[in-house]
Amino acid sequence: MKSIVILISGRGSNMEAILDAGLRLNIKAVISNRPDATGLAMASRRGIATRVFDHSAYASREAFDAALAVGIDSVAPDYIVLAGFMRVLTEGFVARYPMRILNIHPSLLPAFGGMHTHRHALATGVKIHGATVHFVTSHLDHGPIIIQAAVPVLPHDDEAALAHRVLVVEHQIYPQALRWLAEGRITFKENNVVEIRDLNVSSDIGDQQLRMPME
Ligand code: GAR
Repeated sequence: MKSIVILISGRGSNMEAILDAGLRLNIKAVISNRPDATGLAMASRRGIATRVFDHSAYASREAFDAALAVGIDSVAPDYIVLAGFMRVLTEGFVARYPMRILNIHPSLLPAFGGMHTHRHALATGVKIHGATVHFVTSHLDHGPIIIQAAVPVLPHDDEAALAHRVLVVEHQIYPQALRWLAEGRITFKENNVVEIRDLNVSSDIGDQQLRMPME
């Protein structure tokens, strides 16, 4: 069975969706860069080991990432799962775990990398928005895409309404990406384009990602 550590910074709703999915993955630890992350208590209640590396206690990004790497390596996971982990990782850290770090980002990448994705989507006037699960590379928010889901942007949306609609699909696609990972079905084509082996469109992806949920 493959193993993961989950990195969070806050409430951990994506982490919870992953834990609830009953995946065949050994979850070795949940690590936060913030001692006040509410997701930590939720992980503890489920019997998962938690650790905190408070980024504010380190003199530099490199020093924080070095400590984080030691913590991660002490449990030797196969993959690192960023679930609302709000720190940009250094190139050195990313290079240490090539194609072994996954992230969820609240936009349809490559559109709206970085912060405040829902605000930018509303300001730009796109009519479709969504979320992306991808591998992390040194090019921020540009690594190989595993799965995406789209939602409509509706006329009276504000940031909170749009964020909520996107979060619903985040909770579907992250467990699905990790299910494929657990099953060893994620493969790479030329240019690191991800292909899911034996993809069954209706059972693997389902209506949510194929049809706009307008109703
Ligand atoms: C999620 O919307 C996730 O996509 C986003 O933070 C939120 C965390 O929520 N991540 C990023 O913006 C990463 N750049 P959660 O703590 O409830 O999972």
